[in-house]
Amino acid sequence: MQSLKPFHTFAVPAQAKNIVEITALEQLQQVWDGCRQENQPVLFLGQGSNVLFLKDFAGTVLINRLMGIEHNEDEQFHYLHVNGGENWHNLVEWSLSQSIGGLENLALIPGCAGSAPVQNIGAYGVEFKDVCDYVDVLDLNQGKQFRLTNAECEFGYRESVFKHKYAQGFIVTAVGLKLAKAWQPVLKYGTLANFDKSAVGFQQIFDEVCAVRRAKLPDPKEFGNAGSFFKNPVISAGHFALLQQEYPNIPNFPQDDGSVKLAAGWLIDQCQLKGYQIGGAAVHQNQALVLVNKGDATASDIVELAHHVRQSVAAKFDVYLSPEVRFIGELGEVNAEQAIS
Ligand code: FAD
Ligand code: EPU
Repeated sequence: MQSLKPFHTFAVPAQAKNIVEITALEQLQQVWDGCRQENQPVLFLGQGSNVLFLKDFAGTVLINRLMGIEHNEDEQFHYLHVNGGENWHNLVEWSLSQSIGGLENLALIPGCAGSAPVQNIGAYGVEFKDVCDYVDVLDLNQGKQFRLTNAECEFGYRESVFKHKYAQGFIVTAVGLKLAKAWQPVLKYGTLANFDKSAVGFQQIFDEVCAVRRAKLPDPKEFGNAGSFFKNPVISAGHFALLQQEYPNIPNFPQDDGSVKLAAGWLIDQCQLKGYQIGGAAVHQNQALVLVNKGDATASDIVELAHHVRQSVAAKFDVYLSPEVRFIGELGEVNAEQAIS
């Protein structure tokens, strides 16, 4: 067995039978075929910043280290072809250093470029889908590569086709980004709204996003975590109207279909759960949506805490939170919502 410690950010004790860093597509196919022959479960990881290992993994963990960035341009756009193992934040920094704007709101999101489409990463008013041109996929069972357009990825809030139709046996090998040369700042979220639209540059937005994130979010090197533990819940207009009567200050984001997205962090905070601890797992003091490992948390501590948070929010608001984090059992992914119900 090999320790998974360097390969995931929650820092719970976990091991895998085998861990292989993948640097080439031929190697990926070979390792996959070998695991299939031995009937071994396989898990593909980028930087392990959105997973919780419930148990030791009984098979092979493949770590995405497919590197390389290509840059092309025409009169209107910059085009980046980014191999899946590239670090997302390094990509953001590199693009800005080349005077290519458009990724600054997505600064400091941990993980690999190839993982970005999986949950359609998003922050500060921008989602991966807003910059995505295409996603290259390898079908490991057929040994064939294909390209999906942005529309074919079926992106939604923390959603994509890679959580459904292409969840098993398909790997994102590269992403294509399309960034307009006529750069426009996106200033709709939080403190970014204080900037003057006509004067702000992408470096200032990058700096502000980094500063806000560093103040709110725990550094996984200090306290293990996987970012927001839960998704922000979307409820019906009728349910929202009832909640708003009782809680006039409830943060809310109306959706195009009439439903309303709530801030799960606010709901948890209202239950007075900041700092609440079970074993070595705690609700983060500065951002209630993040569960942290105070040092010696087990996966059971985190699951128990998540259950308590979910029950508390449901009892007060009749809203059931679902995990954003992917739960990995002995043989592969397990249903995270069931695990904390
Ligand atoms: P992993 O955790 O390694 O994998 C995540 C899932 O994707 C797993 O199910 C894995 O099997 C699958 N997968 C990985 N690579 C591939 C691939 N190439 N092809 C197919 N499937 C694959 N997320 C946001 O959206 N916004 C944020 O602001 C944000 N902030 C965060 C802050 C912190 C401190 C942390 C720890 C996490 C945060 N996250 C955020 C979550 C995380 O950064 C994203 O989900 C990120 O995309 C995960 O990348 P990864 O490489 O670590 O993926
Ligand atoms: N809030 C509280 N108390 C808290 C936390 C939040 O009252 O403890 C309130 C805030 O005051 C604000 C609202 O809740 O009114 C939203 O909070 P915040 O702006 O911090 O964002 P979030 O909804 O908690 C989401 C994403 C983050 C992303 C930020 C910024 C999800 C699940 N999370 O967090 O993504 O970085 O917005 O855009 O959508 C992640 O996915 O891992 C992640 C960190």
